[in-house]
Amino acid sequence: MTDETNVSSVSSSVPSSVSKETNVTYLKDYQPPAFFIDTTDLSFDLQADKTVVHSRLAIRKNPQSSSDMLALDGEGLQLQSIAIDGKLLEESSYQLNDSGLCLSALPKKFVLEIETVIDPAKNLTLEGLYLSDGMYCTQCEAEGFRRITYYLDRPDVMSVFTTKITADAAAYPVLLSNGNFLESGECDDGRHWALWSDPFRKPAYLFALVAGNLQSVDDSFKTMSGRNVALKIYVETKDLDKCDHAMQSLKNSMKWDEEVYGREYDLDLFMIVAVDFFNMGAMENKGLNIFNTSCVLANPLTQSDMAFQRVEAVVAHEYFHNWSGNRVTCRDWFQLSLKEGFTVFRDASFSADMNSPTVKRVEDVSLLRSAQFAEDGGPMAHPIRPESYMEISNFYTLTIYEKGAEVIRMMHQLLGAEKFRAGSDLYFKRHDGQAVTCEDFVLAMEAASGVDLTQFRLWYSQSGTPVLDVAESWDAVTGDYTLTIDQSCPPTPGQNDKAPLIIPMQMALVSDAGLQAVPCESLKNTVAASDSNDYMLSVTQAKQSWCFKGLASKPVPSLLRGFSAPVKLNFAYSLEDLLQLLANDNDGFVRWDATQRYAMQMIEAHVDGSQLIDSVLGAKAVKALGQALTVLIEQGFKDERWQPNYDAALLAEKLRLPGYQYVLEQFESIDIRAIESAIDTLQQALASQLKTVLLTAYSNLAKQLAALGEYSPHADHIALRSLKNTCLAYLMRAQDSTLLSLAVDQYQSANNMTDQASALAALVNCPLADAESQAQNCLDQFYTQWSHESLVVNQWLRVQAASDKPNALQRVEHLMQHDAYDNTNPNKVRSLIGGFCMGNIAQFHADDGSGYDLLADEVIRLDSLNPQLASRLLTPLTQWRRFATPQSELMRAALKRIADVDSLSADVFEVVSKSCAD
Ligand code: BES
Ligand code: ZN
Repeated sequence: MTDETNVSSVSSSVPSSVSKETNVTYLKDYQPPAFFIDTTDLSFDLQADKTVVHSRLAIRKNPQSSSDMLALDGEGLQLQSIAIDGKLLEESSYQLNDSGLCLSALPKKFVLEIETVIDPAKNLTLEGLYLSDGMYCTQCEAEGFRRITYYLDRPDVMSVFTTKITADAAAYPVLLSNGNFLESGECDDGRHWALWSDPFRKPAYLFALVAGNLQSVDDSFKTMSGRNVALKIYVETKDLDKCDHAMQSLKNSMKWDEEVYGREYDLDLFMIVAVDFFNMGAMENKGLNIFNTSCVLANPLTQSDMAFQRVEAVVAHEYFHNWSGNRVTCRDWFQLSLKEGFTVFRDASFSADMNSPTVKRVEDVSLLRSAQFAEDGGPMAHPIRPESYMEISNFYTLTIYEKGAEVIRMMHQLLGAEKFRAGSDLYFKRHDGQAVTCEDFVLAMEAASGVDLTQFRLWYSQSGTPVLDVAESWDAVTGDYTLTIDQSCPPTPGQNDKAPLIIPMQMALVSDAGLQAVPCESLKNTVAASDSNDYMLSVTQAKQSWCFKGLASKPVPSLLRGFSAPVKLNFAYSLEDLLQLLANDNDGFVRWDATQRYAMQMIEAHVDGSQLIDSVLGAKAVKALGQALTVLIEQGFKDERWQPNYDAALLAEKLRLPGYQYVLEQFESIDIRAIESAIDTLQQALASQLKTVLLTAYSNLAKQLAALGEYSPHADHIALRSLKNTCLAYLMRAQDSTLLSLAVDQYQSANNMTDQASALAALVNCPLADAESQAQNCLDQFYTQWSHESLVVNQWLRVQAASDKPNALQRVEHLMQHDAYDNTNPNKVRSLIGGFCMGNIAQFHADDGSGYDLLADEVIRLDSLNPQLASRLLTPLTQWRRFATPQSELMRAALKRIADVDSLSADVFEVVSKSCAD
């Protein structure tokens, strides 16, 4: 009940088994708030099952609004008292219901005081204020503040907050909130208090409070204007040795945002707190970021390289929100991509600058093309600026985040770095302290650059993944080479007809001699790309052609270089073409993509019943990968021709072949058993045919890494470990028991988690019968060694859930009973249940439906405890239409079983009802 006109009650089109009245919120119904809250003074008396929250709000009528009603949001609160200007209200003078509290006949300006009681210990939703693992913390985005007190819980109501926290001094020595620490004191009953004040106006979703027995790692940062900022990372004592990487990442982020965006931090204190029970990765609360332990703790012995890179990215992301999100925030939740898409773009640019840009791009594109494309093609498809939602928590999606970041990236390409920076400067200057829309962002970009973004705006309103069908024609007599591009976009829920978008298509022409630069006739559609041998085609219509003149021989087109737009690209590359790109293209992304396409062609052929994997061309592909590996071995794993330092990492990405999710995305109707067999066959073929060179590479890499000495999370080292461990994974699949000792030895001698966990995974997935007992020994040893490290135990759960061995489901069921498992901890649930349903595609889709049953049971159980987690876990089932029988029927039946449960949360209800809708 954010605004009385903002919500309408509709009966949605759902199967008869799910007849339920539900609330849908529409963008078109947005109304400014009827009242403003200038100051918010909160006081918390923290007790596990009875926390008293007192709030004092200075409220003022919005002169622009015609409504006189103050409709405060509130959920699960016990109201104690309300007073206006010091006068207690009678029960008859307000209306209370499940979603809030309404007041009318109010003065223009008044002070509202409300006292509520909440129960943080019982709060397993992990929204609002909750107590877990002996620590109080809050999560208010998107609509969690209403579980703390009655409030205008919407991002366009911004207020100056002060927070007083009182708690038991022995159990909760550290009391934190947003902004600056003002003062603290002792009470006479063993309790103590602290007072915090945040000078910047902010929406309630950025409020935070923490109370616990924590210790901090401290550092400082000198800003570009010479101010000193104190930096503190709060963790449990046992984790103090895992904070260095996050601290370094924070300092790097602060410096980067000054250099690249001219953004300086604004308070004198910046705090990060690590909590083990958290629904998301991390949260950008003003001055007090709260992090899932998995996104802040990093120590070489307990975390893998992937975790180190994740920590760096998440710390940067949340820090960057201080400007893109906090100083300038969202008007309403339909504008979520304004802060999330832009901030993901910013953190991706940062990670690219800190590490290998090409490897980062490949990782991001992999995620986009497997999971975001699937979302765009499924029942939950929505534009990056959605038009309606039932539950906003369901819209923290890959579309809002990753596609949203791609849209910003395209603007960056269309404007160029300089004008883009001018646009972002103008955006921050115009809107500092405001709650604004995606349109405001685009307007600032237009005003600063002079570029007309009229057609570009369609990227905000149109859902679905655009498809480019590219055809070529070659005239050997004139040397003319013509590319014709058809643009289309399949229908998505609520959007049948799509208009053509503007799609920046960066391309080049590749021959034996490298890139060819010749004149292009359709110049009016062709803007110069930064590299003179590149063309930037501006695709704006349903069908367009470009003619390249005077080529000596037919080139191979290198299309969508750097993945210049989030689209599906169809071009009938022959296998020879792909080998040409692999050998002679200078774009790392396209070279990687060529291996993906090559592998896909082999997988598709296998699914269609032919034997391409063993054929001549299959052998050529294997040979090409083998040669690339040999070249790298000879050059000491630095390929001077392309990217001096990171080619090892890129080669690892190529060797790894397309992931299951991506492969499934390529099929109209998924025959999971045929795909499973194709992937297995291809992996086996690579492993056995490349055994010798893999072995040489493995031992050379091991030596080289040993020579480098101590573990370092530098991208150079990560690249070498990544290639080494990819080689090991293949070697364990080469059906050669003499190789087993490689993994066992690496497991036993590893001095870092990357090597230890990689060896463990390689053993667990080794198909040899001899490997079974070794794998089990290592699993047992691993648990004994790390049972006290919660995050490491999660890795242990995940590796077993994702195991290729046929009995993974039984193992998961068994592990659900294990002491180490806690079904109220999202990280544990995601590792075990998510690890199985999303990381073990073949077994999740077992023909008897046992995987779906497991997931449906868990979703139903979790829905009453933690609806956000339940809803996210459900995602794989939403794809049921893409599968052939029996999977499609069984998946749908599992969805229906969930739909039939009484009193489902809005979160799960929205997903199941949209998934089952006819
Ligand atoms: N604002 C979000 C966290 C959030 C999301 C809170 C949804 C409540 C509901 C935060 O900035 C974020 O986006 N975190 C990401 C990590 C990031 C690196 C993309 C996350 O938590 O996964
Ligand atoms: Zn974010």
